[in-house]
Amino acid sequence: MNSILKTITKLTALFSAAVVSGIIFTSSALAAGGTGPEVKRQEWSFGGFNGQYDKAQLQRGFGVYKEVCASCHGMKLLSYRNLMQKGGPEFSKEQALAIAKEATVIDGVDADGEPKERPGKLSDRFQGPFKNETEARSANNGAYPPDFSVLAKARTIHRHVPWYSEPYYWAYDMATAYEEKGSDYIYALLTGYGTAPKGVVMGDGMNYNKYFPGHQIAMAAPLSEDAVEYADGTPTTMDQHAKDVTAFMAWASEPHLNARKNLGKRVQIYLLILALLLFLAKKSVWARLKH
Ligand code: HEC
Repeated sequence: MNSILKTITKLTALFSAAVVSGIIFTSSALAAGGTGPEVKRQEWSFGGFNGQYDKAQLQRGFGVYKEVCASCHGMKLLSYRNLMQKGGPEFSKEQALAIAKEATVIDGVDADGEPKERPGKLSDRFQGPFKNETEARSANNGAYPPDFSVLAKARTIHRHVPWYSEPYYWAYDMATAYEEKGSDYIYALLTGYGTAPKGVVMGDGMNYNKYFPGHQIAMAAPLSEDAVEYADGTPTTMDQHAKDVTAFMAWASEPHLNARKNLGKRVQIYLLILALLLFLAKKSVWARLKH
């Protein structure tokens, strides 16, 4: 009996030691292999259960996109008429039309077989800066500036946490919408430029960015203080530009968020009332059975 007890004690001690060393090993290995600082969560007007886009912010964000990013990045899934969309930037028809007219659209060929150009219409898609990927790459040192249409959802944040805290983060991540995580990353990327630390060898024409995987990005820091004028008096800091353009990208990737969340709220209220009615119905049915 005594020897069985001893064996069990020994096995338990061995098991605990294995678990503890496993935890220490995993967390230190992960810390060493991490890919840079953690992307910080931001407060987005469109975040959480009740969040909605701020149309003034979306209008400013479109301004930043048009003035700065549109010289390299397309947004081909958007049409100019989408700029008038309720729950989006809500530009007036005149404003959207003026924006569309600034674009040059190639529409068929003329009698000589030459491409025919005309000003954009509300029904046209956003015109990209390059004719195709080859032209885009050759203008950008071989790198391809990705299309913005759904980029806010195509990017996310990657955490490097020890395995035992995975379940907590898994639950947390499940409860956070894709466009929010993508926005956190894009904002971090736009504000994450800096000089490379000593010992890091940079490739030709590459820029150091804390948050880009591998830290070397072919896009030079696109934003700076006062890069774009704001009509509504919002301070034109780099941080504000980054926030606004990111919100605009989030809207492009999830354009019906406002309507969806409004409906969601109404459904919750409906379900609450229904639950109450069912509860009262159940009470009255069972009350009769008691006698
Ligand atoms: C001069 C051209 C140029 C301009 C202007 C520019 N970009 Fe880029 N961007 C690039 C290139 C090239 C890449 C691809 C970088 C790479 O893969 O190394 C890129 C990549 C990106 C990415 C993707 C990063 C990733 O995780 O893959 C984002 C997001 C981005 N740009 C945002 C912006 C925003 C927002 C603006 C405007 C404020 C902007 N860019 C302006 C050239 C540009």
